[in-house]
Formats: sequence, structure tokens, C-alpha cells
Amino acid sequence: MTMDADLASAMLDGAALVEDALDALMPLHEGDERRLIEAMRYSTLGGGKRMRGFLVMETAKLFMVNATCAARVAASVEMLHAYSLIHDDLPAMDDDDLRRGKPSCHKAFDEATAILAGDALQTRAFEVLAEPDTHSDPEVRCELVMALGAASGARGMAGGQMIDMVSSDRELSAHLVTRLQALKTGRLIQYSAEAGAILGRAPTAQRHLLAAYGRDLGAAFQIADDILDAEGSDASLGKTAGKDAAQGKATMVAVLGIERARVQAEHLAQQAALHLEMFGPRADRLRALAAFTVARRS
Ligand code: IPE
Ligand code: IPE
Ligand code: MG
Ligand code: MG
Ligand code: MG
Repeated sequence: MTMDADLASAMLDGAALVEDALDALMPLHEGDERRLIEAMRYSTLGGGKRMRGFLVMETAKLFMVNATCAARVAASVEMLHAYSLIHDDLPAMDDDDLRRGKPSCHKAFDEATAILAGDALQTRAFEVLAEPDTHSDPEVRCELVMALGAASGARGMAGGQMIDMVSSDRELSAHLVTRLQALKTGRLIQYSAEAGAILGRAPTAQRHLLAAYGRDLGAAFQIADDILDAEGSDASLGKTAGKDAAQGKATMVAVLGIERARVQAEHLAQQAALHLEMFGPRADRLRALAAFTVARRS
């Protein structure tokens, strides 16, 4: 399936803005800590689909937010996401040596450096949000910090990763896998979709619609990731394929089988788009993104 041409070019444009912001926000400097910054840059620059960053940029456009401010928030969520991937790949977690088509951070550097790079990317993500260049209103910056904290902590990504780790070789119900995935992946994607509304000081009802869109999109996204793990190759994914089954991971493919998982992902992607009705044609790209999420090959 070919990607919607408008979406493809908008994702490329968005990725370029995020790349420039990331580059500027993590300057190299001399000293013994240089290795740490090199590892942070290695794991954030020049790779990834930038889906979370794109969600920030696109939802910010709905509220006429300045693109430079939005790009800082997009870079911040991509830092947080990259930290989660670095730690996810560590031997103590998924033990994956390949990420974004190159050696994982702990392979390219070493485990200690990878742990520290994840730590420092996480703190830099919050620091960037708090800096005055992100928004002139300190209340908006505070709201962004709170929302990212909630999405990535024990009740969000890290909590979901904990459930993921303790669920290996257990037979989970579809209901429990849904909860696991909502935390480990959904909450950060939901935050990314809400960030534009926070930046734009949007009415609460509109923020809630984008949150609902992000929630369903995130659920569809992780099921698609599970399907790709089962069907894709190392070369097409840029990460090790087939490792969920090998590690006894609790995935929607394990619970429902590939075909029913695919139906579920498609249903969730369609449901995600339904939340966008009140935004009219201005949200067409977000609708196309929902379709892309389940049709993607990497
Ligand atoms: C991978 O996320 C981790 C999951 C939550 C499934 P992505 O598929 O968005 O990874 P990148 O950023 O494109 O590499
Ligand atoms: C990881 O899920 C989600 C994170 C919070 C990083 P996976 O373990 O399925 O992600 P991949 O397949 O390694 O990218
Ligand atoms: Mg994992
Ligand atoms: Mg993994
Ligand atoms: Mg996966």
C-alpha cells in the first residue's frame, strides 16, 4: 500500500524540522562527558519515523502555534521516546542489538553509556519544555511538563514497560494486553497529540478530542508493531524481527493471532479518525496518519 503523497511529504518536512531542533538542542562539547552527548546524538539524530514529533507539529497547526515552538516540543518528545528505546534494547530488557538499522546504543557504545544517555535524554526533554523559548506563558510550559511526566512515568510508559517485563511467558487476556499497550506506547502518543492543544491553549473539549484520537491511534500503532515483529524482517524494520515470540512477549498477536490483531488495529485506526470530525478538513493529515499507522511496513 502506498502512503498518501501529501502525508509522506508532510512527514518528511516535519522530520526535517525535528532533526534541526534536536541537533541544536544537544550541542557537543569537550570534556569527559563528550561520550555521553555523542551517545545521545547517536540515538536521536538521523533515524526513526518521527511519528510522535509529527503529531505535535500537526496538532499545533490546528491552533496556529508558531512552528519553532512546536518543533521544540516535538524534539522533546522524540528525546523521551529515544530514551525509552535505548533502555528497551538493553540486555536487562529486550536485549536487542539492532535499532533504526544500526547497532543499538549499548552496542555502539557500552551499557553504562546507554543507561546514562537514556537518563540524560529524559531530563533534557523536560528541561527543553521548561525553557522560555518553548512558550512565552509559563503556565503552558508547566502544563507540558506535567502532561509529559504523567505520560512517561509509572502510570505511563515506564509503568507499561514494567507490565511488559513481568508478563513474559504469561497468558494475558486481550483486556490486559490492551492495558499494557495503552501504558507503554499509548500514553506517549496521546501526549503527542494533545501537545498541540496545550501549546495553543485550546478549549478543553478540543484537547480531549485530540487525546481520544491519540489514545486510539496509540493502541492501533502498538498492535501494528506487534504484527510487524511477527511478519517483518530485520532489514525492513531496522530492528530484530521475530523477537516477541522468541521472548514469550505478551502481544496482541500472541493473544488474538495475526488476522484478528490486524482487524483490531484497523478498527482502532478508524475509530481514532472519528474523534477528529469537528476539525473538518484541517485534520485530514491526522486522518491519513491513522491509516498509515496500520498500513506501514516499518
Ligand atoms: C517503536 O516506536 C517502539 C514502540 C512503541 C512500538 P517507533 O516505531 O515509533 O520507532 P521509531 O521512532 O520510528 O524508530
Ligand atoms: C517498546 O515496545 C515500547 C517502548 C516503550 C520503548 P517494543 O519492545 O515492542 O518496541 P520495539 O519493537 O523494541 O521497538
Ligand atoms: Mg519492549
Ligand atoms: Mg523492544
Ligand atoms: Mg515491538
